[in-house]
Amino acid sequence: QAAEKGGYAHFMLKEIHEQPRALRDTLGGRLQPDGRVKLEGVNMTPETAAYIEKIAVIACGTAHYAGMVGKYLMEKLLRLPVEDDIASEFRYRDPIINEKTLGLVISQSGETADTLAGLRAAKKAGAQILAITNVVGSSVAREADHVIYTWAGPEIAVASTKAYLTQVLAEYLFTLYLAEIRGGAPWAADLGRQLRLVPDNVAEVLKAEGQIRELASRVAKHEHVFFIGRGMDYAVSLEGALKLKEISYIHAEAYAAGELKHGTIALIEKGTPVIALATQVELLEKIISNIKEVKARGAWVLALTQEGNTAIEKEVDQVLYLPVVPSLLAPMVTVVPLQLLAYYAAVARGCDVDKPRNLAKSVTVE
Ligand code: G6P
Repeated sequence: QAAEKGGYAHFMLKEIHEQPRALRDTLGGRLQPDGRVKLEGVNMTPETAAYIEKIAVIACGTAHYAGMVGKYLMEKLLRLPVEDDIASEFRYRDPIINEKTLGLVISQSGETADTLAGLRAAKKAGAQILAITNVVGSSVAREADHVIYTWAGPEIAVASTKAYLTQVLAEYLFTLYLAEIRGGAPWAADLGRQLRLVPDNVAEVLKAEGQIRELASRVAKHEHVFFIGRGMDYAVSLEGALKLKEISYIHAEAYAAGELKHGTIALIEKGTPVIALATQVELLEKIISNIKEVKARGAWVLALTQEGNTAIEKEVDQVLYLPVVPSLLAPMVTVVPLQLLAYYAAVARGCDVDKPRNLAKSVTVE
């Protein structure tokens, strides 16, 4: 097993470090220099693509949070409504799905019972199904009409890292694909160019590991941690909180920063750690005002923001600077330090990182 871990203390840490490679493999030969995308398992025609009026994300756990990033992305760029659903809710709530719906089923294993049931329900209602999965020939892959494989490679740690990141990347690729087949988009070439840089951006952010480890040792001493963010940062903060609670057993909750006043702020006491994601340029002022609100109640605030946003320093206790990427691509960079933060907090607390209590890698029963 030590050999399989490639010198890393845990599979999770190895998998976090494999992410630049996993992203490069998932991009593979799919992205052309002009922003066009070839997706070998997706065979929509201009007619079937034009027919899509709504996208319904169906997924569980981390895959669901990847889908939430996709909702912000696809609604913004494709101007198509995207509902993101937890598969166990979707399957029983009689959702409004028909042949004009694209069911976007996201699953690392391709075997999650609720996700598979959701896929079947959507298919039965007439939806065409696109699966994003990491396992070739999995149930989800077999039952979907279209498949995008994430080339993350086997993921051993229960807490998902490289699978999440490649799922998110696959959503960007699909966004480019759908835009093109529906007649092209002015932003496509630009987005394509930026996507190509993401593996290097992720490699860059991994260099902050030492600083993140120190920050984690501070977080590890607490029993309650809050994450706040707006827009895409909110979607990423949900994943950050999930990672932390899964492996360190710290109670971690993510809130849309604008919702703080509607309840969560009551939980902020002197020293409560709040991790504020501040990567969305157009929302920066708004998140800073939320940061001020929690600071005023005594919170210890760690902000994640892009290099250059130095104005935030005077508002927070610690800043972790991220490589400069457009707001729209920030989730793929921002999630990486949150994975490391969860990892090092769990290690500091002596937890079984790769096999957290009560959790399974793949939930194949309801
Ligand atoms: C379990 C795993 C998670 C995963 C979720 C969905 O809870 O521990 O890491 O996100 O199942 O799994 P899937 O294979 O469908 O992505």
